Amino acid sequence: MTIPQQDQTRAEDTREHTAETTFPPSPEFIADAIADSGLHDAASADRVAFWAEQSRALLEWRTPFTSTLDWSDAPFARWFADGELNVAENCLDRHVRAGNGDRVAIHFEGANGDTRTITYAQLTADVQRAANMLAGLGVGQGDRVVVYLPLIPEAVVTMLAIARLGAIHSVVFGGFSAESLRARIEDAGAKVVVTADGGWRRGAVSPLKPAVDEALQGEGTESVEHVLVVQRGGNDVAWTERDRWWHDEFAAAEPEHEAQAFPAETPLFILYTSGTTGKPKGIVHTSGGYLTQAAYTHKNVFDMHPEKDVYWCTADIGWITGHTYVVYGPLANGVTQVLYEGTPDEPQPGRWWDLVDSYGVTVLYTAPTAVRAAMKAGRQIPEARSLESLRLLGSVGEPINPEAWQWYRQVIGHDRTPIVDTWWQTETGGIMISALPGVTKLKPGAAQTPLPGIVAEIVDDDGHRVDPGGSGYLTITEPWPAMARGIWGDPDRFVETYWSRFPGRYFAGDGARLDGEGDIWVQGRVDDVMNVSGHRLSTAEIESALVGHEGVAEAAVVGAADETTGQAVVAFVILTTEASEGVDRVSAATELRNWVGKRIGAIAKPRQVVIVPELPKTRSGKIMRRLLRDAAEGRRIGDTTTLADPTIMATIAELM
Ligand code: WTA
Repeated sequence: MTIPQQDQTRAEDTREHTAETTFPPSPEFIADAIADSGLHDAASADRVAFWAEQSRALLEWRTPFTSTLDWSDAPFARWFADGELNVAENCLDRHVRAGNGDRVAIHFEGANGDTRTITYAQLTADVQRAANMLAGLGVGQGDRVVVYLPLIPEAVVTMLAIARLGAIHSVVFGGFSAESLRARIEDAGAKVVVTADGGWRRGAVSPLKPAVDEALQGEGTESVEHVLVVQRGGNDVAWTERDRWWHDEFAAAEPEHEAQAFPAETPLFILYTSGTTGKPKGIVHTSGGYLTQAAYTHKNVFDMHPEKDVYWCTADIGWITGHTYVVYGPLANGVTQVLYEGTPDEPQPGRWWDLVDSYGVTVLYTAPTAVRAAMKAGRQIPEARSLESLRLLGSVGEPINPEAWQWYRQVIGHDRTPIVDTWWQTETGGIMISALPGVTKLKPGAAQTPLPGIVAEIVDDDGHRVDPGGSGYLTITEPWPAMARGIWGDPDRFVETYWSRFPGRYFAGDGARLDGEGDIWVQGRVDDVMNVSGHRLSTAEIESALVGHEGVAEAAVVGAADETTGQAVVAFVILTTEASEGVDRVSAATELRNWVGKRIGAIAKPRQVVIVPELPKTRSGKIMRRLLRDAAEGRRIGDTTTLADPTIMATIAELM
């Protein structure tokens, strides 16, 4: 594996210009900042002791741990292993006991205009009752529950109720298809599925339960005993014997639930993510270490003052960002947050900014793709709002280009707010590389510094550390509390995927550059993983969906640079002889786009499907994706001399 050369230069080109513009923290920010340089000092003095200290300070342990890190079975880490805690109690009950029950936990804003204000006391009561409800459906320690819900309070309640029981949730994003859902239910061996009749999108109900029904007709889903259905859309749904309405079961459940303490390494959740092969991986996270890093990063990176901040992370709970920075981090820290079901521009452009103003949001965490979409819509939209409450902005999901960074700071942050560009992954569980507001001098476009307690290095092809100014692969050299504990049901794949390319190092799949001051500039994936609107998609998974269509003989998928979504899916397809007879290219392309949507989910639909007579292959039959990417991005096609048929790229370029 080598870093595609043209990607590297492209990334550097845009960034070099602005690298000199830096933003030191303002004296006002420093005066009240949570993080200070003492964190770095403490972590470098004794990294493991530092994490132990953080964990004791941030969480409530029922049985205090005496062992901090056990790395004897590397790369399978055990953190705080002899300690016991209950994750939900840490996110809820203890805040109520500390006298903060009246603090708002969630300001919910539905996509259809309904709102709910939920205090910590109310959320605690709801989760206790929901835990009893799930226990009544047979859910207990170690059982898997698949959650397929819109972004509504019940989703948060469900996740925490599952955690409270020592069971394991696996949230599947509502945009995934019935088939994707089925595969996840099967792999996890889920006992219960929690869903809704439907969710709201742009004034209409988009049904969810039919996908669950379809998934459960598929193979390998016999483990599911019950489907619990939240009434949200009010749409008609088919009903079977295993189905239960949430509101019926909830009303019938006992209100009080005493949380039991579980060992720190009790699995908390499985979250499926795309890799370089066709089959999504079930990333496993456990309790004590994950919650420690969730709380620590949330507090220090977002400068959380729970008594006065109103925090808003725009991610859906179907992604890791929603797990760590909507559910576990903010609630462990007892913070007030906004939860919004809809899109940035419904029912009118600027809805997000209206929400910032109406709730007085102080800290906003979103993805570069959303910033670029707002840029495109025009600055007059946010400029017509106050946005004065904002004091810190965050970015996650993909590299943020310096232009978007500058716009975000100027137009949304009024030239005043720090921006934290946070690099991390589903596998890392929590933020790994980010500026610390109040400490770090900010550089637009760079993720910058490993957080205190994290050790990252950029290495070359041979695994040697690169010097400042050099580029290579981003690796993590020391275990961290929220690291994945494995891939569900496939320990070998975990070792092979992340720990074999550079022995002794975790290799994340990203390329990065180290600048002269030792700051890290993440440059994006160097493998076959695409990043579309901050969502991870695998080229292999989409290719395998395409060749699953009877009319497709061969398919190659690339991620092409896209102004708004970062990357976009472009598919090159050879039809079978039968299918290509008298075919209309446009309708074939439309059919295949929809096919991918049906197989994987709407988020994976290619921006473009190009029907081609042949793919660019070397004489040994290897598809040269680099050339396809050139074509998809409208660039001059690179060197074609090693191709079996050197003329094919001219044909493909013409077809585009
Ligand atoms: C990319 C999302 C550059 C990266 C939390 C990583 C980023 C993948 C950044 C993980 C960032 C995330 N700068 N790239 N600040 N944040 N990425 O698992 O390629 O959905 O490997 O986790 O997103 O995506 P995932």
